[in-house]
Amino acid sequence: MIAIISDIHANTEALTAVLEDIAGRDVEKIICLGDVVGYGPEPKQCLDLIMAKASVTLMGNHDYAVLFEPNKFNIGAESACFWTRRQIEAEADEALRNRYWDFLGNLPVKHVLPGEDSGAGELVFVHGSSRRPINEYVFPDDIYNNPNKMQLIFDRFEHLCFIGHTHVPGVFVEAPDFYSPEELEGVYQVDSGRKALINVGSVGQPRDRDVRASYALLERGVVRFIRVAYDVGTVVEKVSAVPELDDYLGTRLKEGR
Ligand SMILES: [Fe+2]
Repeated sequence: MIAIISDIHANTEALTAVLEDIAGRDVEKIICLGDVVGYGPEPKQCLDLIMAKASVTLMGNHDYAVLFEPNKFNIGAESACFWTRRQIEAEADEALRNRYWDFLGNLPVKHVLPGEDSGAGELVFVHGSSRRPINEYVFPDDIYNNPNKMQLIFDRFEHLCFIGHTHVPGVFVEAPDFYSPEELEGVYQVDSGRKALINVGSVGQPRDRDVRASYALLERGVVRFIRVAYDVGTVVEKVSAVPELDDYLGTRLKEGR
């Protein structure tokens, strides 16, 4: 069984709760789809955990922003990005500081696995989309507003593609159509004849009005959407204690948006 996590956003409480949930299951490896940092109050703690626990971590747009430059960020996200960069720069242990930068600087943008063990065809993992791995958002509304975009994205993978980035979990099929985890009762049955673009949701900043951390499990022929409750209040306090982090980055966690 593979656990797929994404968009941790420097939220240690959420990440710790998800890793505990994963530890209680028969998970062979953890794949992280990126955005380990950005927005949240504990970037280094989350990097420590992800470097230790994830087999593969991909480049998210916030990881990219901390390394290079923010791209189309709002003011709050940009301020959080520069603050995050300073936290890493201020790490007194030079070897550890270099490990953070080496880790971030070497994140791949895409990971591909054969899917036979999971009862699937090829498995593609990216942060944003199969077409633009770091920075393209695929929203449920795109199935109505932008079907051509959906087709171009579906053209770029063979069977299953796992994504994050929007922080909204669910399954896109090629029709195009979108199914939320509620509509699927938490389980997507893999269909060998049908492509699916699967958003695993966000560990550290869910935006589907469910405050719990979100991730997914892939086991034989099935993708399972998991939600894990965590101590939101503590994270809100940690955000408000950092002047460079907009209070909204904490308070939004209480509403899951
Ligand atoms: Fe994100």
